Amino acid sequence: MENGINKHGIRNYTRLEWVTRRNASVYYRQLFEYNSRLVDEVLRRKPISTCKRVVEFGSGSGLFTIPLMDKLHEDVEEYIIVDPYEGPYIKDRESLARRIRESGYSGKARILKVPVWGMRGKVEDVDLVIGHDVFCDLTMYQVKNAMMAGKDVLREGGFFIHSGLSPNASTAAERLLMKLDSHTSTPLVENNWFSPGSEFLFVISREAGFGDITIHEVKIPLLLSGNDAMSILKEWNIEDKVLKKYQKQIDEIGIEFPGEQILICRK
Ligand SMILES: C[S@@+](CC[C@H](N)C(=O)[O-])C[C@H]1O[C@@H](n2cnc3c(N)ncnc32)[C@H](O)[C@@H]1O
Repeated sequence: MENGINKHGIRNYTRLEWVTRRNASVYYRQLFEYNSRLVDEVLRRKPISTCKRVVEFGSGSGLFTIPLMDKLHEDVEEYIIVDPYEGPYIKDRESLARRIRESGYSGKARILKVPVWGMRGKVEDVDLVIGHDVFCDLTMYQVKNAMMAGKDVLREGGFFIHSGLSPNASTAAERLLMKLDSHTSTPLVENNWFSPGSEFLFVISREAGFGDITIHEVKIPLLLSGNDAMSILKEWNIEDKVLKKYQKQIDEIGIEFPGEQILICRK
């Protein structure tokens, strides 16, 4: 990528402009920027920009996917997206497909509508398996299954990476976000907070057969208040009566993302 322009002639920051043009809420823009910084943090720790064949599992609507595709080396040959798009995420596939199209990446991307463990036999010898905020939707048992499936499709020496919001809150606004999240009306799993702790991740990665395991805590500031806070809480299906009850605290304190926990390991 030269001067921030990729071979499709698209500047890095056009995605942000694109989101703005479409009158997306400030909250979406902030999330996009947040994920863009998160990708930088991952790249700082692992030089994955040389990867040519990539699987991203749990891509959702692509708020992490597009910044990642922007920043991976332009020679990425294939970007395989693996997501079942069920339940509250049923509509996200359309948004993702649109974002990929409008970003000029259609030629490289392939969407497999299966859970991560369903990619076996459809994908092989990839250099990188990466996901963002997916473990939060899985049970502990499923996290291990996901990692084992990742290992099966990676080439020898390939990387598995997952970033997710940390289970450790240190500010009042972070604690408020965690408390509100426990009131979602569509809980996907019983262990309902964001991410498993780092000890669990370490043990599971080892059990799944990975080596060179590292877990990094990174703080990317994102404090939301007013309508932006409400947008994200509604998107997470936090019950209305809970939002009403905590409205004053949400206005006064805001809600804040805790740090990110980035797990990196190697086959
Ligand atoms: C919290 S969203 C995160 C979306 C996206 N990665 C982001 O950061 O915006 C979780 C995503 O994981 C997907 N997901 C849930 N269970 C999955 C599974 N077993 N395999 C692959 N993806 C899964 C959901 O469909 C959803 O798109």
